[in-house]
Parts: sequence; structure tokens; C-alpha cells
Amino acid sequence: MLEQIKLHNFKSHKNTQLNFDRSRLHALVGKNSSGKTSVLQALYYLSQLTNSEAKNIFHNERAPQFITTIGQDNMSVTASGFWGDNERQNWEASYNWQSEATRQGIPTVLWEPDETPKFWVQSGRLRKPIFTSLSNAPKFIRESLDSAVHLNLAVTNLTKAAYSDAIKPLIEFDGSGLAPTLDYLRGEAIEQFQLLQEMLKRIVPGVREIGVRRAKVTVDRQRLIEVDGKSISYVENQEIVGQEVVLNMNSGDRIPAHAISEGTMLALGLLTVLMSPDRPNLVLLDDVEQGLHPKAQRELIAVFKEIVQQNNNLQIIFSTHSPYIVDELTASQVHVLSNTKSGFTRSKRLDEHPDVEWAKQTLTTGEFWDAEGEDWVLAGEIDD
Ligand SMILES: Nc1ncnc2c1ncn2[C@@H]1O[C@H](COP(=O)(O)OP(=O)(O)OP(=O)(O)O)[C@@H](O)[C@H]1O
Ligand SMILES: [Mg+2]
Repeated sequence: MLEQIKLHNFKSHKNTQLNFDRSRLHALVGKNSSGKTSVLQALYYLSQLTNSEAKNIFHNERAPQFITTIGQDNMSVTASGFWGDNERQNWEASYNWQSEATRQGIPTVLWEPDETPKFWVQSGRLRKPIFTSLSNAPKFIRESLDSAVHLNLAVTNLTKAAYSDAIKPLIEFDGSGLAPTLDYLRGEAIEQFQLLQEMLKRIVPGVREIGVRRAKVTVDRQRLIEVDGKSISYVENQEIVGQEVVLNMNSGDRIPAHAISEGTMLALGLLTVLMSPDRPNLVLLDDVEQGLHPKAQRELIAVFKEIVQQNNNLQIIFSTHSPYIVDELTASQVHVLSNTKSGFTRSKRLDEHPDVEWAKQTLTTGEFWDAEGEDWVLAGEIDD
């Protein structure tokens, strides 16, 4: 389980530290641009390092030059936590980057098998680059962080008919591959599928049954032809039979994916990720309430709580703008992010608010956040 994350010079985070309580369900709230998505990104990169080299992750728009706070020449992200309920093993994993100009020594990977196992990944823009990954870190570090999904579900991907030749299809972080994943669950993990269906029915009461039916899918196939002894590759569009989602409604209607409401599709996508057998231990969700009615938002969090309780290693961190969602949480589950005048992020947990004890008697958590907003996080701070 992840207990703490520290971000140093990561986008708007100059020095942010988030300490998670033991609930394994944590919300990030704050105004637009306060740095919520950035926290999820920082964690997602760390999880990617468990099976990928740093050079494969930190390039293009994720190059250190873009994710390091403007004007700074070094950046680091450090996560720590523990694994195991009875025999607790503490761990810490981090990546950091220093610009060539300030870099001292050669980047190294360190693994110190002492009481608190640590694992660092350093990478830099060097004359002789050495890039590393967390793939050699102890299993419990990798299990804590491995394949964390940073979900940015898009309705268009969820509704698209899809084809998969994988034995265990898995919905992707952008929502593609939903129908084959559901089809697999329906056939091979029947209990999970039934549970998923019950949960969707609670969030969207009009739904009676989730179905999957055959549908045409256009796929791009890479082809090679020989011309004058030279191989030339080209892409060919091919129409094959895949699958799409259909919902049977209480009204008797059978609604194909493209006609299903956006909120319903997003809720179905989220539940499919959380209920699939290959579900990762750490699930990162951005703007979790997308498209959901207040009642449905409350029900979604109730369902999240149940899923977390049923799965010992599962932890969900999500960003939200909704007081209805916050209402379903305790103050220690809510991390409030705020920007200083210079645009840097500061963060405090809602239970650090000086009036929290009074608020517990009189207000719901959502009302407390709504009333106090974010400015209190900066109280007594000197701007950078
Ligand atoms: N290299 C950088 N240096 C400093 N600040 C940066 C850098 N890159 C991005 N930012 C800033 O970091 C902030 C990132 O905000 P982020 O997307 O995490 O906000 P958010 O809380 O998710 O907002 P929203 O609610 O709108 O989704 C933005 O203000 C952006 O301008
Ligand atoms: Mg965001």
C-alpha cells in the first residue's frame, strides 16, 4: 500500500507531500490547475518504471525538460509504503532527474536491502546516457505500483466496437477494448460479471442487463509487398467481426453502445477496470464523477468502498470537483490542493483544517469543503 508521495519540482509541485490514510480510497480536490492530475501522472510514471526503462517513459511531452518546474534544473518523485498485513515490509521508490549542467556523478540505481528497502531510478541527459528502471526492484515494490492504471476514459473509445485476440482482454487506460473485456468476464469470471452488473444497476437504475454483441470493426493491418526486390510496407484497412456493448433496459429497450448515455458508459468503464481479474493494485482516476448525476456519484463511491473492502491490496486515488463525492468520504480521505500566488501547489488533508472537530459535529464533509474552499491550505505560508 502506498502511504506517501513526495513531488519535488514536478510541474506546479515545488515540494508537495501527500500522506494517505489507511482507507485505500483517497480524493484530490482543488481548483482547476491546482495540480491534481499532475499527482496522478507522477505516480503513473513511477508505476510504468516497474516494467519499462526510464528512456521509454520520459520522452516527448514527458521529457524531464517539460515535467520539471519551469526554471528548475532537477526533479524528483518519491513514493513510499508497505506490503503485507502481518509481516509488514516497508518500501520506498523514486525517480529523479538533474540537468546536465548541475548533475554530479553518474546516475545510479541503488537498492539498499536494509529495514526500509529503497530503490532509485536516476536518469539524465548525459553524454553517455544511462537509463534504468524499477524492473529489478523487489516483488512487493513492483506489486504495489505495477500496472497502476491512470484512467482517462473517453466515451468515444468505450462505445467503439472492438476486436481482441488476447486470451484475457483488458480494457485500456483510455477506455478502448471495453466490449471484449466484458465478453471475457461474462464467459470466464461469471461471478465478477454478475457483481459488476449489480453495481452498474445501483449507479444507473434504468439498466437491467449488460450485453455484448457481434459488430463490424475496422482494423489497420501492416502489409509488406516486394517491388523490384525491395520490401515496401503499407497499411491496409480491413473489416473484421468484433464486439460492442449493448444494454437491456428496464423499459424493455435494447440499446447499442453508441446510443447509451455518456455517464452510463463511463460508470460501466470504471467498474469493468475495477472488477476485472487482472485489475492492478493501484488505480488512478482523473475527474471521477464525469457525467454522473449527484445520486449516481454517491452510489459510485459506495460501490468503490465495497470493492476496496473486498480487495485487500487495492487502493484508489482519484481527482474530483464534486461535493457529492466528497460527502461520502471522511476528512482524512480528502486532500485539498491550492496554488500560491506564484502558481505553486500546496496541499493539506481536510482533517488538518483547524476547525475539523467542530465541522464533524455540524457539517457533512462535502459541505465543509464547500464552505472552506482551498485558501486555508495557504494560511501562514510565505509565497515562493
Ligand atoms: N513544467 C512546468 N512548470 C511549472 N508548472 C507547470 C509545468 N507544466 C505544467 N505546469 C502547471 O501545472 C499545473 C498542472 O495542473 P493539473 O493539470 O495537474 O491541474 P488539475 O488540478 O488537474 O486541474 P483541472 O481541475 O483543471 O483538471 C498547471 O497550472 C500548469 O500550468
Ligand atoms: Mg486535471
